[in-house]
Amino acid sequence: MASLRKPILAANWKMNLGPTAASGFFESFLSRYAARADRTVIVFPSAIALSAARHAAQARPDIQFGVQNVHTAEKGAFTGETSVSMAHDAGAHFVLVGHSERRHVFGETDAQTAEKVSRVSVLGLAPMLCVGEKIEEREAGQTNAVVARQLRAALEGLVKQDASALAALVIAYEPVWAIGTGRTATPQDASAAHAGIRDELRSLTGAAGEAIPILYGGSVTAANASALLAAPGVDGLLVGGASLDPESWAAICSA
Ligand code: 13P
Repeated sequence: MASLRKPILAANWKMNLGPTAASGFFESFLSRYAARADRTVIVFPSAIALSAARHAAQARPDIQFGVQNVHTAEKGAFTGETSVSMAHDAGAHFVLVGHSERRHVFGETDAQTAEKVSRVSVLGLAPMLCVGEKIEEREAGQTNAVVARQLRAALEGLVKQDASALAALVIAYEPVWAIGTGRTATPQDASAAHAGIRDELRSLTGAAGEAIPILYGGSVTAANASALLAAPGVDGLLVGGASLDPESWAAICSA
């Protein structure tokens, strides 16, 4: 049976669409996607385009926003970084934490990911924690072990510090080999990995682990979104490339 949770459709624009392009995107997207009570739509523009995106979508409170990364310090001499309170001030409710590109391109560690999850939660925003295995780990049968390690590392501190913050947490399972490659996990692959994540969440957080949404991400398109969303244990989708085009993003949000 597919999930009974209200599906979450999240767009990660990565380093695409500046302020002007973000405004143009919403003009087109909003005319193609009418608000639906049975969907949650979240967009993660680049930090520099967040205000323009929010402004362009101001008539549509059903569209929520987030940032793609934060620094853990409140403020100070950290050239190029964005603090959680700045993101909040700019209208972000969600923060992507531990995205594969942060881990594998920028060298972010499990420990830094944990610190970010805590900081985001303490300041009242919702972390969307990304986990996922590399191809060699999958081929070695280590998918569940890798993802369990990433979850434990990121969440153990939060569970001790403030278990009530788990109510806002979202997990995104994004196998590294599926990101930007056109090679999507099958709905069966996604369900199997999500079941492993759910088990780990239960063991880490107890009853709270039951309600935490788990999204799938990695080469989602308008063509495969419905099948992935219908897979048991898939509570939503986190979409990169296919979220940059208003028509394809509208189709995915309506999947
Ligand atoms: P693609 O949808 O482009 O594969 O990217 C997935 C992703 O990394 C979303 O966070």
